[in-house]
Amino acid sequence: MSSTSTLPTASPLADRYGPGALDDRPVDLAPLTEAIDGILRHRTVRSYLPDPLDDAVLPTLVAAAQSAPTSSNMQFWSVVAVTDPDRKDRLAALAGGQDHVRQAPLLLVWVADLARARAIGAAHGTPLAGTDHLDSTVVAFVDAALAAQNAVVAAESLGLGTVYIGALRHHPEEVAAELGLPPGTVAVVGLVVGHPDPAGGERVKPRLPQGAVLHRETYDLDAQAPHVDAYEDVIAPFYRDEGLSESWRRRVVDRLAVPGTQRGHAHLHSALAARGLCRPADRLTSAPTHRRTAP
Ligand SMILES: Cc1cc2nc3c(=O)[nH]c(=O)nc-3n(C[C@H](O)[C@H](O)[C@H](O)COP(=O)(O)O)c2cc1C
Repeated sequence: MSSTSTLPTASPLADRYGPGALDDRPVDLAPLTEAIDGILRHRTVRSYLPDPLDDAVLPTLVAAAQSAPTSSNMQFWSVVAVTDPDRKDRLAALAGGQDHVRQAPLLLVWVADLARARAIGAAHGTPLAGTDHLDSTVVAFVDAALAAQNAVVAAESLGLGTVYIGALRHHPEEVAAELGLPPGTVAVVGLVVGHPDPAGGERVKPRLPQGAVLHRETYDLDAQAPHVDAYEDVIAPFYRDEGLSESWRRRVVDRLAVPGTQRGHAHLHSALAARGLCRPADRLTSAPTHRRTAP
């Protein structure tokens, strides 16, 4: 792909699905509003200028994040804004040495937060057993992710760049200690925010054809295969340009063949329990149900 593809094209859809991908499988778009156009042009940015952010950026991103839907309006998330270079440096190290965490002026750490609800329960004299259940943790992760993504959309609309830092989950306890997170909270994902370095040249990364992800009425796994095949042709030159020779399927296999051990995720379940999320009580209360239904 040529370097000119970093420039906005007439159709953001062409970049989203890659060269030629729409020739056989056109996608009809509703009117291309500013919001849709911005979303379709998303690309992760991994090179930043050291320029500071305007003071209004952080509260704007938080307002955007708080505008995301949240399950039952429970608002089971918080965000820690980190600008201190030493703290960013330590968090970059915990995230496997990702340099963009150091480069960019702001790291937002999105937190699944059951602590606030538990504090409300304690003040009310009512321990909130419901927060021990796995579902509350799932809700907190979903809430945090929706909030974070709203911040991404807002940041990009301001001409800023972002990159998520899932690698913070390699060290949940150390990240919690660094951020002073109380029990009942855990960092879900980091988000670097800054001014993109134009020399970075990040491009829109094509996605799977819609036929691989869109099912009408019922799910059809077999029907996806030709679409996944077609994606290989689109993404292979993209990866080659980035110096990555693997196919997308190869990358899926390589990443997931071993259950997380090499990435430090193996202990995530126990780390969550240690942080007071998905507590063992959840497993105890669900056990009798399984026994009753056993033959
Ligand atoms: C939950 C999550 C965690 C991620 N963690 C990292 C990360 O630790 N480091 C990184 O460079 N990119 C990270 N990314 C960015 C993805 O690699 C990127 O979104 C993906 O390759 C697609 O590229 P695009 O965002 O440019 O379309 C993460 C993205 C998500 C959604």
